[in-house]
Amino acid sequence: MSALADALRRAGCVFAEAEAAEVARHVGSDASRVAEVVAGRAAGIPLEHLLGVARFAGHDVELDPLVFVPRRRAEALVELTVAHLRERPPGIVVDVGCGSGAIAAALRHALPDWRVEATEIDPAALSCARRNGETYGFGVHEGSWLAGLPSELAGRVDAVVGYLPHVPDTALESIHPDLRRHEPDLAVAGGADGLDGFREVLDQLPVWWSHAGVFLTLLAPEQVPAARRHLDRRTQDSAPTLDLHVTMVDDDAIVRVDRSGTIDS
Ligand SMILES: C[S@@+](CC[C@H](N)C(=O)[O-])C[C@H]1O[C@@H](n2cnc3c(N)ncnc32)[C@H](O)[C@@H]1O
Repeated sequence: MSALADALRRAGCVFAEAEAAEVARHVGSDASRVAEVVAGRAAGIPLEHLLGVARFAGHDVELDPLVFVPRRRAEALVELTVAHLRERPPGIVVDVGCGSGAIAAALRHALPDWRVEATEIDPAALSCARRNGETYGFGVHEGSWLAGLPSELAGRVDAVVGYLPHVPDTALESIHPDLRRHEPDLAVAGGADGLDGFREVLDQLPVWWSHAGVFLTLLAPEQVPAARRHLDRRTQDSAPTLDLHVTMVDDDAIVRVDRSGTIDS
């Protein structure tokens, strides 16, 4: 183990070797910066906030304090989205609740012929996402979920992707304490069953979706039955008919909602 990894391990880092590699990549041999980072980690500040950068799906995205730290598990959401959209003619995809814009950046890179837009409501995240948008080439709009989009996009959005806040309020303490103290509730709390954001986005989709609209998000497997019941109720109440498809990746349910057809999983 390197001296840096050893110092990080003593600072309480479980993944000390991996963190040491990231520190070396971004800070190099600047001893006082390295010491600052180690002290910050000992104080429980997430590494990505200390470095000002997060690695996501093979890309570096700028990350400011108090902005949600992109999670590895959301890379599966990107992979399934890209696999699905590559089968379609290029169109418009929107990353809702984009945080730093990590998902939008990855989509922009993987789907160069698609127009990528992103929305966010939190001022700190918006400012960070705008910088990443300039670097990677996606637009960023302020507003609640899809309501922040310019009106010219109504009826033209082919795909909506969101790693939404979906932790039930009663489970917030299950989040790692370092992250819990350094991310706002707005980024993680999903209401009593964790599905508030899911329902809100679904309510907005009919205005924005193109004829072939699709919505992809990530839920805990135990949230899928309630999500399915919600779609069933909506389908009974109104057009368009919505299908729910579930792909399990490790402990996560990647959920895809399409217009029309039958419900399966
Ligand atoms: C779980 S974080 C995911 C962030 C980003 N997609 C990522 O994977 O790193 C959810 C994000 O949704 C944003 N958010 C919460 N409520 C929102 C709303 N009503 N409209 C837009 N964004 C919202 C939060 O500020 C937060 O950045």
